[in-house]
Amino acid sequence: MKKLLALVLAMVMVMTAVSALADTFKVAFSQIGQESDWRTANTDSIKNDVGGHEGWELIYDDAQQKQENQIKALRNFITQGVDVILFTGVVSTGWEEVLKEVNAEEIPLILVDRMPDCINEIEYAAAFGGDFVEEGRRQTAWAGEYLKAQGRGDEEVNVVIMEGTTGADAQVGRTKGNLAGLEAYPNMKVIAQQSGNFTRAEGQALMESWLKSYDKIDILIAQNDDMALGAIDAIKGAGKVPGKDIIIVGCDSVKAAFDAIVAGEMNATIECTPLYGPFVVDAIEKLQAGETMSKTLLHPEEGVYDMDGGIDLGTVVSVKAADVIDQRQY
Ligand code: AHR
Repeated sequence: MKKLLALVLAMVMVMTAVSALADTFKVAFSQIGQESDWRTANTDSIKNDVGGHEGWELIYDDAQQKQENQIKALRNFITQGVDVILFTGVVSTGWEEVLKEVNAEEIPLILVDRMPDCINEIEYAAAFGGDFVEEGRRQTAWAGEYLKAQGRGDEEVNVVIMEGTTGADAQVGRTKGNLAGLEAYPNMKVIAQQSGNFTRAEGQALMESWLKSYDKIDILIAQNDDMALGAIDAIKGAGKVPGKDIIIVGCDSVKAAFDAIVAGEMNATIECTPLYGPFVVDAIEKLQAGETMSKTLLHPEEGVYDMDGGIDLGTVVSVKAADVIDQRQY
């Protein structure tokens, strides 16, 4: 009798566990990789907020910078019958077929960070990402205004632009913005423009090669902070003083860039927030409540941080990094 009771109890426990699993709301996230401090903070934000949400299970896939891995992951998510898919694409092209497969299964899609170029051809529930063109414009405009503030507004200066992963929405947008921003400063001449793939190691290698090829580099525009930090090592290695001999403007506003600015080795960083966890949680809760959301790509409010503050870029005025370094979350 005792054995029978134990068996019944065990069966009830297994059935409860199985039905709890079936009830779990599955949120799948196809992440690009781990190329930068920004990316780590972005992954953590979504893992903490979505993965930590009661009743939700986060299924996470790291594509290691490969589009084919992301396509495979999206198809796996479909097979697993997940309830929502969070997606950011390593590059902007080549997604239409697989995202239409997601649409065909009626799995709500939330676009985060980098947008696919087929955004107008697919269905999605919500979209959150940086204003990459404006970030790029702010980078070069900051350098132009800084030179003016230093009384160097008429000086002919040589600029190098270190781009992110070729074909990524962030690279395409920031490059467009970098060049548009330069139009107001005819004294700033671009002498080189190449990808450092958004990584510290490639940023360092590219800067080393530029320092060998060009005698006079006055300004480095690095499309993310990791590449700027790698370049700082290269500049020091070449016996030059980063932040003085070469003006360095990064993007993202990660903690390590704040440290470099406070140490006087980097001049400015344009913010691009990776903290999308709260946006995504809010969107999924709305989906669960049956609410529809705006299709407009929502950009979080972002700042500009530098050595002294007070550089006016029209849409934003820079803030002294040392004054707010203690408040940084990433
Ligand atoms: O898409 C956002 C960009 O991707 C960040 O600026 C960069 O650091 C990251 O790799």
